[in-house]
Amino acid sequence: MTTPAEVVREHTDLDGEDLTHLQGLMAWWGMLADLSFADLLLLAPDREGGFVILGQMRPSTTQTVHPQDLVGRVVEEAGMPLVARAWRLREMVEGERELGRGERVRSECIPVRREGRLLAVLDRESPLSVRRRPGELERTYVSLFGRFARMVMEGAFPFPYGQDVPEGEESPRVGDGVIVLDEGARLVYASPNAVNAFHRMGVTSNLAGLRLAELGVDDSAVPTSFETARPVTVEIERPPDVVVMLRCIPLLAGGRMDGALVLLRDMTDLRRRDRLLLSKDASIKEVHHRVKNNLQTISSLLRLQARRLTSEEGRDALREAERRIQSMAAVHEILSRDARDQVPFDQIVPLLVRMAEDAVVAPCPVRVEVSGHAGELVAEVATPLAVVITELLQNAAQHAFADLSEEPQGEEGEEGRVHLDLRRAGGRLTVRVQDNGQGLPEGFRLGQPASLGLSIVKHLVADQLGGTITMSSGAGTLAEVSVPVPEGAAQPAGPPVG
Ligand SMILES: Nc1ncnc2c1ncn2[C@@H]1O[C@H](COP(=O)(O)OP(=O)(O)O)[C@@H](O)[C@H]1O
Ligand SMILES: [Mg+2]
Repeated sequence: MTTPAEVVREHTDLDGEDLTHLQGLMAWWGMLADLSFADLLLLAPDREGGFVILGQMRPSTTQTVHPQDLVGRVVEEAGMPLVARAWRLREMVEGERELGRGERVRSECIPVRREGRLLAVLDRESPLSVRRRPGELERTYVSLFGRFARMVMEGAFPFPYGQDVPEGEESPRVGDGVIVLDEGARLVYASPNAVNAFHRMGVTSNLAGLRLAELGVDDSAVPTSFETARPVTVEIERPPDVVVMLRCIPLLAGGRMDGALVLLRDMTDLRRRDRLLLSKDASIKEVHHRVKNNLQTISSLLRLQARRLTSEEGRDALREAERRIQSMAAVHEILSRDARDQVPFDQIVPLLVRMAEDAVVAPCPVRVEVSGHAGELVAEVATPLAVVITELLQNAAQHAFADLSEEPQGEEGEEGRVHLDLRRAGGRLTVRVQDNGQGLPEGFRLGQPASLGLSIVKHLVADQLGGTITMSSGAGTLAEVSVPVPEGAAQPAGPPVG
């Protein structure tokens, strides 16, 4: 796709400020195309002769005469004689032009000035159909276009850079509702959609000749716009829930305020949807909160039950189950604070580490260190991964240093060390748990049916996370888990939709 900026640089001698002016014009020209019921082309002289098309805008109020993309195309002067004339004479030129294929269009060429200098030509092109008598709306819109066209020729339109540019999908458009104010800010025309918007605001009286304030409408945008000769946009609310966006656009003549075009957009449904989304957000948080509470209840029940058992083995088994459940609760806890489908996993890690430290059975002190980052993970990855890390840390805490007591105590100050490292690269997350303990037992096989913890780990990694795990002994034990994480998951997600 070619941008106007690229075309300007490649084909013309216009400078940066000229480009800003033309871009400003193009930011507004959806409105101009709609008002004029015509296609708009912006052309500037090409360095090599002829004119280059910098931009193109189709009307949303009628059919286009240019279904094809014309941006960046260079045309000979002979191909667009009216544009060439307007450029040479420095004034507006009207006429007809051959499109090829025997098709003809009406063309109105408007010189675009900035601080007295001619920059480009704005060409309004519409079909040459047999015209029926235009209605009031059409006549009003076309005459509004004429007023903007004069402002373009005088260099008064677009407004200075940074002035309330009509960007964004929420921005009101001509089809949403138009009112025209005279130089005294009195209403002289309201389009049917504008009348509807007024009705929703509770205004049913005859509008003509009145100021908005006299209609009981918050008109604060209008006086500000009239005083500053700049466009101003506000949102007006009428309790309980009607919201209308009002954009006041000054119409200038010879540098003086000559009235204004006001675009109105009924935002009620949009804002209601926003509120629904917000409350949906709150419900999602609430659900995570409840899941977390339920998991914590289960883990408390297991703890109570463990206390009543006399068998050591039974107690240990219940304690482990309790910890697995708590690591899942940790994920929901984070999600209940911030309702997104992504979890900042690094916030969960300290919790998992603390649980492992509580599980340490070793005659020497054991220190757990963490390095690296996991970043944001979707909940479907975060929950099983939290359980996996819990198991691996726990094994290190429980098995790596357990038998050291049978060996002669090392030098004073010797301690067990467990290192958890998280790395995100190339669409994968690698988790390494390394300890400096006694290493894996003879004949160790990952996930023997008899060993519950590592069986769970193997299942979660391979089946739920689609990843791999290896365990090896050297100086201590190293467990390495690698799981795919979609690259998109690295970006914070927006509010959940759907
Ligand atoms: N970091 C480690 N250091 C030494 N031995 C380990 C380590 N991790 C696991 N093991 C060995 O693997 C066995 C299986 O572990 P696991 O499946 O978690 O069951 P459990 O922890 O209930 O014994 C452990 O009993 C232990 O012998
Ligand atoms: Mg275990």
